[in-house]
Amino acid sequence: MTSAGTHSPPAAATARPWWQDMVLYEVHLPSLRDGDGDGIGDLHGLIESLDYLAHDLGVTALWTGPFFRSPLLDQGFDIADHCDVEPRFGDLATVDRLLAEARARGLRVIVDYVPNHTSDQHPWFQASRSSREDPKRDWYVWADARPGAELPNNWTSEAGGSVWEYDEPTGQFYLHSHLSEQPDLNWRHPGVRAAMLDVLRFWLDRGVDGFRIDVAHMLMKDPELRDNPPNPHGRNVYDLQHPDFDAQLHVNDRMHPDLHGVLRDMRRVVDAYPGDRVTIGEIESMGWTDWAAYFGAADELHLPFAFKLIETAWEATALRATVAELEAALPDGAWPILALGNHDRPRLATRLGRAQARVAAMLLLTLRGTPTLFYGDELGLVDQPVPLAAQRDAFGFTPGGVSRDPTRMPMPWSDAPNSGFAAPDVAELWLPVCREYATRNVAAQLAQPGSELGLYRSLLRLRVGSPALRAGSWTPYEPVPPEVLAYVRAAGDERKLVALNLTDRPSRVALGTAGTIALATGADRTGEPVRDALVLAPDEGVIVDLERRDDQEETSR
Ligand code: GLC
Repeated sequence: MTSAGTHSPPAAATARPWWQDMVLYEVHLPSLRDGDGDGIGDLHGLIESLDYLAHDLGVTALWTGPFFRSPLLDQGFDIADHCDVEPRFGDLATVDRLLAEARARGLRVIVDYVPNHTSDQHPWFQASRSSREDPKRDWYVWADARPGAELPNNWTSEAGGSVWEYDEPTGQFYLHSHLSEQPDLNWRHPGVRAAMLDVLRFWLDRGVDGFRIDVAHMLMKDPELRDNPPNPHGRNVYDLQHPDFDAQLHVNDRMHPDLHGVLRDMRRVVDAYPGDRVTIGEIESMGWTDWAAYFGAADELHLPFAFKLIETAWEATALRATVAELEAALPDGAWPILALGNHDRPRLATRLGRAQARVAAMLLLTLRGTPTLFYGDELGLVDQPVPLAAQRDAFGFTPGGVSRDPTRMPMPWSDAPNSGFAAPDVAELWLPVCREYATRNVAAQLAQPGSELGLYRSLLRLRVGSPALRAGSWTPYEPVPPEVLAYVRAAGDERKLVALNLTDRPSRVALGTAGTIALATGADRTGEPVRDALVLAPDEGVIVDLERRDDQEETSR
């Protein structure tokens, strides 16, 4: 971090770990590709997709999505055995094959680690609920109703309603921050800590490159279980959460400072292994100071997600402020991870429209930080309604619940029946086939350089080959018209101006220096020289290779 407008790479830039240079691809496993003929995506299908990911698209790492034993009420985030594979996805040998095949293509593999809760089918919970005296009783959070009240406190769940479920056999309530079938583990119990750290070791021993840690901000709760205060702000329109959840400020049911000790424990386990394994944290959108605390003193998460970026209005001033705030909050030597979509939110092209989704791709792949792509966004997929009878996400079955299935359609690989996601004769898919598959699919877009996939391929090649885009400084470029977000990425002699027109009106950016267009999101302008001004078409983003220094970009934010 520097005090001026320019943010330079840390001093240790010469020895960058691989995960600072990675482009991560989020696979939603049940939805990527069915490799064994049962209509649900699986590890075999993922292995079949590796050539596409590594060579056609050009990402450098994949995040698998949970593949552990699970009743799949929450797409596998409800785990019944952390150290075995759900048979619908494959088995341990398939995981080993995935790791080997990915490695052979130069791809890193990040797997999910879900420490906050288990499935109610997990043997630990079965034991815990069996009797108040069971040695595993306190592995979960049990409580009595508060005197004179019906429940232990007022906390609301992400899936709607109270977090407390009464369990008849032992006459107490257990805590579940999500579905009632997902009881929360009690990380204050040393047995839980030891067993869950062993889960990390199990997968590290098998050779994974790192973990995406589920809801890392939730691991510790207020030990006194104090009520949450009401939320004066209203709903979060970016996240597909139950309206009940937003009724209160979640200050006591998550983000307790003790969780940082847990993250340090996890980090110690991971750091004990060779090969720079990485920890990526899913932490909810929060203030920048709170976010920065998840790096610890470089001894907690390597990469806590900065979801504020997703939740920033699609408007130049707001986006510039968010990126500048992130850069300013980033601890020395720390590195951010960025995403503009994931399996819990409406798709990028749904939120912004297809034209601006292309501009968003350019933003994500030219910011200073590790970009994470959500499967199918590279095709410009939009959410699609899923009939109730075909829905899978149990979050949609709670009273008033919101299903995330519309975001999670089967990946359309071709125009074949079942869209190449499954063999043509498979009768039923995990979720209904993508409605646009006949024209919007991987095979079709690979043949069209102007397609969304063509744009992502070009952006990825540019980023991977550019020290400035991968690792260089980030400086806002000003002045620009209000509809434009512009910044310079620079390293050594290389200086790239990124100018994004966030509106559907034409725009013009005055330049103090000449350059050559490296890539544009719309019509092909590669190689076009620019001199005094850069003219931007409606909904167009452009990357320009600048010829020499320009005083303009040094103006402060
Ligand atoms: C995370 C996951 C989400 C899941 C929840 C409970 O937020 O991203 O999909 O439902 O955790 O595990």
